Amino acid sequence: MIHIKSLGYSYGNEEVLKDVHLNIPEKTTCAVIGPSGCGKTTLLYILAGLLKGYKGEVYVSGRPLAGVRKETGIILQDGGLLPWKTVGENIALGIYAKRRTKMPASLQVRKEDKRVMQEKIDNVLCELDIKAHCDKFPSQLSGGQKQRAAIARALVTDSDLLLFDEISSALDAVTKEKIQELILRLQQKNGLTLMTITHSIEEAIFLGQQIVVMEKSKIKQIIENPYYGKRMLYSDEAYYELYQVVRTFLYEGEKR
Ligand SMILES: Nc1ncnc2c1ncn2[C@@H]1O[C@H](COP(=O)(O)OP(=O)(O)OP(=O)(O)O)[C@@H](O)[C@H]1O
Ligand SMILES: [Mg+2]
Repeated sequence: MIHIKSLGYSYGNEEVLKDVHLNIPEKTTCAVIGPSGCGKTTLLYILAGLLKGYKGEVYVSGRPLAGVRKETGIILQDGGLLPWKTVGENIALGIYAKRRTKMPASLQVRKEDKRVMQEKIDNVLCELDIKAHCDKFPSQLSGGQKQRAAIARALVTDSDLLLFDEISSALDAVTKEKIQELILRLQQKNGLTLMTITHSIEEAIFLGQQIVVMEKSKIKQIIENPYYGKRMLYSDEAYYELYQVVRTFLYEGEKR
């Protein structure tokens, strides 16, 4: 699904990505972890088609990347909800915006279609436990609720590729686990390709079939993860070993 060859990117004189190579096969997941400022969000912006002027080659779904794709669902680090729309309207926006580009005008207003879409929206609202906040504006939500609304908006569309930037960092531990499980379930059920950026080793192990450890501007190590989708315990020796491997790559060479 994603093929990246010799990717480089600079903001002015600052080279923030250097010679990055990465393959993410279709219907698989990849978790990217690395220190603050190492280039994770920049990588995600490029894959989302939001940054131009990179060096190297990027293929998404077999084609050279050419701007924003309709089938890519993205959540940026700040969630990106529109402040003047309610939670319900923000979520509906993804669906309707996508439908508008795909369907002839005559079909857009079909009652049946609207009913199906509303059902989809309601299901996601319930699954993410934000139905009660549907009519609120983003400014009236907690950080965690905002993030859940943003996740709902990305999940409700018919995407084949999801790009998530630290979606769970503002959430409490219980909600975080519920959301990780929801994402995993949807990814598996719908055969989605997922790249998720995280600062949590546990989340990387739970959500990433590949764990990509970055250091400043570069990929340091790609670890194949046999424990993806499993809730493991530190008392489990194999899990603990993998955790330590990721941790070692993450902190190697760091002054702590
Ligand atoms: N718009 C911009 N203009 C100039 N420099 C930028 C811009 N955005 C990011 N940078 C710089 O590029 C580098 C990589 O930033 P990026 O946001 O990709 O890091 P990150 O790995 O996502 O960090 P974090 O974990 O803190 O979110 C940083 O040094 C940052 O200061
Ligand atoms: Mg970032």
